Amino acid sequence: MSEVKMVGLTIDGRTVRAAEGTNVLQAAEQAGISIPHFCYHPAFEAEGNCRLCLVEIEGLPKLDSACSTVVREGMIVRTSTAPVLEARKDVLEFLLAEHPLDCPICDKAGECKLQDYYDRHGLFPGWFLEAKEKRQKKISIGKGLLLDRERCILCTRCVRYLRKVTGTGELGVFERGVRAEVGTYDDAPIDNNYSGNLVDICPVGAITDTDFRFKTRAWFLEKRPTVCPRCSRGCAVIVESVSGYPLEEGERRVFRIRAGENPAVNGYWICDFGRAGRRDIDEGRQERVIKSASPESELSWQKALADVMARIRSVPGPERAAKVAVILNSRMTREELTLAKRLFAEGLSLDKIFFADPKPGAADGFLLTEERVPNARGVLQAGFSPRLPDLDALAASVEVLLVFGSHLLDHFSEEAVSRALAKIPSKFLFSAHTGPLDRLAEIVFPLAVSAEKSGTYINIDGLRQSFGRAAEPAPGVVSEHEILGCLAAGLGLNVGEHDVR
Ligand code: SF4
Ligand code: SF4
Ligand code: FES
Repeated sequence: MSEVKMVGLTIDGRTVRAAEGTNVLQAAEQAGISIPHFCYHPAFEAEGNCRLCLVEIEGLPKLDSACSTVVREGMIVRTSTAPVLEARKDVLEFLLAEHPLDCPICDKAGECKLQDYYDRHGLFPGWFLEAKEKRQKKISIGKGLLLDRERCILCTRCVRYLRKVTGTGELGVFERGVRAEVGTYDDAPIDNNYSGNLVDICPVGAITDTDFRFKTRAWFLEKRPTVCPRCSRGCAVIVESVSGYPLEEGERRVFRIRAGENPAVNGYWICDFGRAGRRDIDEGRQERVIKSASPESELSWQKALADVMARIRSVPGPERAAKVAVILNSRMTREELTLAKRLFAEGLSLDKIFFADPKPGAADGFLLTEERVPNARGVLQAGFSPRLPDLDALAASVEVLLVFGSHLLDHFSEEAVSRALAKIPSKFLFSAHTGPLDRLAEIVFPLAVSAEKSGTYINIDGLRQSFGRAAEPAPGVVSEHEILGCLAAGLGLNVGEHDVR
């Protein structure tokens, strides 16, 4: 591997070393010096159109843009001199001359770069007496995406993203001068599986998402990183929630899922399918332990789990291998799978350990994979050989069945599952969401979803990624890890040391 050549320069009196080819803006950021910028994004080549990143470079007659100037040995850069601050202020003033006073009703307020930079580098009074230019404020440009042309600062990040990253090029800048504006070609909607990233990269509130628009304010959001569980790529995501303060009807706690940064997996982007995982966290959730024979009556966890253990114990030890079965899934974390292996395969010596996962979908050639589970490799590494059950064989031999997840119905008709389960005397369902399997199980336990757990997934490339809890589970909702730990303890099985989550 060729060695990266380093270049030495001085930024604001600090000696900095940066890799050859780095631009001044990046070199400054690596040294902890932040230079304001709109149009620059590390994923694209610099375009240098917003002029906000102007800096003084010794030896040059004029200020130069930090984003489009590559570092040179011995370069001396100043980012906060009086001429730089004046130029920054002027750029902001020109932008704000035509920018609407929308902040109180803009979804980007609180995380808008224009707002932040005005607060830090502007704070000038408005001298312009002329009325602001009126433009269209609510143009649908694709699924869930709205464009506000008054707020657009023409940084062209959105245009370059669609050209360079998705390669679909749906957006362009039309007209010139004061009439210049962003729009789609022939008004055709943006139609690719990565369009939600436009909302993330727009530095102002010009592109907004109808799923988030007007639902809450950015400053209420608690932002926690995790790994997307919706396919085997394992992209870094940020789950943004508001605990105990929903500003709309219903129980929405998680308001947004956005791309996290992971150069080894997803760079700066996530797919729209992963972004829509927000709904999995709050919608259609099981809320309490229920007995399906009398769904109105609430059951305590302890009593319900004691019931499961009593049924397992009622099958004599030597017969358990044949008469107790369990169905797991590849959404479980590596830690949960290890515990399941110790409990079911080693502790109870079960032969009938099956897996039911969501059906594969189409891969899109970029990030989204066919496997719609995050941890198929974790299943193999835990020592399982995943296979679907044969429903007839299950119905003919099994007396106690534990089902984790609801994806049996992805592979068998509801009628076939109903018929088989009707023949099994004791069956228990552990599931995060409500569904048709609920009525077939004797007791249904509400489970945490991935964002409410911590653990490890192993992605399609064999990369192990550990993650922490990104959203608090509702009271009474627990993880598979807790259930398996309680079952092992209650059945008197030594499953070794394990974390509770
Ligand atoms: Fe930039 Fe946003 Fe305007 Fe696109 S819509 S040019 S990202 S300000
Ligand atoms: Fe999630 Fe897969 Fe999309 Fe990444 S590519 S955001 S892991 S569904
Ligand atoms: Fe450098 Fe826009 S960020 S010119």
